[in-house]
Amino acid sequence: MFEVLEELERQSSLEKSRKVDVAPNERMLAITKETGELLNMIIRMKNAKNMLEVGMSVGYSTIWCAEAIIENGGSIITIEQNPVKIKRAKENFQKAGVSEVITIEEGLAMEVLRKLSLQEKYKNFFDFVLIDADKENAIEYFDMILPLVSIGGVIITDNMLYPEKYREEMKKYSQHIHANQNVRTITSPIGNGEEITVKLR
Ligand SMILES: C[S@@+](CC[C@H](N)C(=O)[O-])C[C@H]1O[C@@H](n2cnc3c(N)ncnc32)[C@H](O)[C@@H]1O
Repeated sequence: MFEVLEELERQSSLEKSRKVDVAPNERMLAITKETGELLNMIIRMKNAKNMLEVGMSVGYSTIWCAEAIIENGGSIITIEQNPVKIKRAKENFQKAGVSEVITIEEGLAMEVLRKLSLQEKYKNFFDFVLIDADKENAIEYFDMILPLVSIGGVIITDNMLYPEKYREEMKKYSQHIHANQNVRTITSPIGNGEEITVKLR
């Protein structure tokens, strides 16, 4: 599993250095290794079992989380709309030996979240969530996801601080969740800036 993560880290650093020419819609845009470690540690500390991810890409963050989720006897539902990335993620999950605990929901995040919200079994169900898709819809994703999260459940949101092009969008997101009395939330400078939010009630 860690060999696959290391290979993806090599690809990600080549992509970021622009040493390879990757088509914009095929870029991994992965979380940093430090963020992967943070997610993995929180899942372990919480003994989280039911994870939801919005924005899978080629599965780097998913594999970091799966390593801990497997240990806890849990499973992951992850959402991605890009078929090229879904194909690469499936290959990566196979190589990493984590496919069995991962269900990929193919399609637009909003539509998949709407579908999950309609199912009674997902009310207060997820104890760990990663939001890392299109930033312009982050507030809507948060509002749709919160009823699906258990009390004490954790929501992590990536890119709170970097890249700078997302700053304004993420500032609005931060203000939105800080105004919500049902959560406690802090912005951590780890990686690209991770919002760590706990559902209180
Ligand atoms: C930042 S990348 C995710 C990186 C991944 N979490 C990781 O760290 O390895 C964001 C992903 O969200 C997907 N995405 C963007 N908008 C989406 C939408 N509306 N519905 C579903 N997926 C979307 C993109 O195709 C992209 O692969």
